[in-house]
Amino acid sequence: MSLRRPLPLVAGNWKMNTTVDEGVALARRLRTELDTCRVEVEVLPPFTHLVQIAEVLRGSRLRLGAQNCFSADKGAYTGEVSPAMLVGLCQDVLLGHSERRHILGESDELIARKLRAARRHRLRVILAVGETEDERLDGATMTVVDRHLRSALEGLGNVGEGELVIAYEPVWAIGTGRTASSEQAEEVCVHVATRLDELIGDVATTVPILYGGSVTADNAAELFALPHIDGALVGGASLEVDAFTLIARACEAARASGAGA
Ligand code: PGA
Repeated sequence: MSLRRPLPLVAGNWKMNTTVDEGVALARRLRTELDTCRVEVEVLPPFTHLVQIAEVLRGSRLRLGAQNCFSADKGAYTGEVSPAMLVGLCQDVLLGHSERRHILGESDELIARKLRAARRHRLRVILAVGETEDERLDGATMTVVDRHLRSALEGLGNVGEGELVIAYEPVWAIGTGRTASSEQAEEVCVHVATRLDELIGDVATTVPILYGGSVTADNAAELFALPHIDGALVGGASLEVDAFTLIARACEAARASGAGA
């Protein structure tokens, strides 16, 4: 495997939190705090906020992404939002998040179709993969991660630089305060890097591999020091300006020091 050196990314997944007014205020404060950050910083607010937050972030270095999209461009799909509708509003879309897999019942096959649809519209995809607690206890972590990666990426054709991000998020660590240990996180991220090499070739070395699952201002530096972790997908702590700022700055410091992210 060749040397990995992707540009790190710290992305905040707001999930179903904040009103439009609260979200706009949060985005304004994050722009003030993090516009000078030398790693990529991104917010993923609810769909309802995108138009106004795109305005707040216009001209800044912060990226904007959606938390989901559908697999068709338009049509009779009540309540869904298509990737075509996101074009011009945001640059990225998160797909395969465990809450969509396990609460909303999204299959590997649906996620693969969504990913292809997002790519047709040149949205960068942040693909989330990761095992449940039972799967880890069964020793099936790598099998599950492989399945998530293969089903989404196999046969995708040419993936260019800047088109894909992978987020490894153990389901048992999401929103639980039980962050994966450094060894657990690094082991799976190394595995992801190896699989990516096989699935998409040389461009794999440019794909950031994020860790997600109870990342906080207290544990971020330790995670970013790991050689195969290029940033974080942050849930709860992304709603707090101070915590999210400290996490992004920890990522910037790790990159500047030449360690890990
Ligand atoms: P958490 O969520 O940071 O609250 O654990 C992470 C995520 O779901 O992306």
